[in-house]
Amino acid sequence: MIRLTVNGQQQALDVDPQTPLLWVLRDHLGLTGTKFGCGIAQCGACTVHLDGVATRSCVTPVSAVEGRAVTTIEGLSTDAEHPVQQAWIDLDVPQCGFCQSGQIMAAASLLAENPTPNDADIDQAMSGTLCRCGTYNRVRAAIKRAAETGTEEA
Ligand code: FES
Ligand code: FES
Repeated sequence: MIRLTVNGQQQALDVDPQTPLLWVLRDHLGLTGTKFGCGIAQCGACTVHLDGVATRSCVTPVSAVEGRAVTTIEGLSTDAEHPVQQAWIDLDVPQCGFCQSGQIMAAASLLAENPTPNDADIDQAMSGTLCRCGTYNRVRAAIKRAAETGTEEA
């Protein structure tokens, strides 16, 4: 049994310890907001938070998260009220949407660590999170919007 906390709920799972966290989330827990893009840590579509830090779930064996806290896009907020989600909605960021949960989770992790990122900080944090639709300009604008909102709320 592997025990972990996902979106605030304790889980005990009878799975192969080497199973990637991505497939545990999607197939065992039904949390399909986290996407499979490449499977080799190259695209960021599978990004979740592990103890609050952006982590690629496709290359993270579930055994590595034993006893730790995982947050997926479903658990980022209860009603899309997280400043990043609100900024994404306000600026209409997504196109096809496939990469967007990864983008949002990467952005939320960045802002948790650095509430007032500059352009270089944003580029560094987001550079590995790919978008085939090219929403990068809106992603960057939304991160700035979320930073402003988060700072106002703090
Ligand atoms: S699916 Fe994990 S980084 Fe691409
Ligand atoms: S919105 Fe389509 S891949 Fe990013």
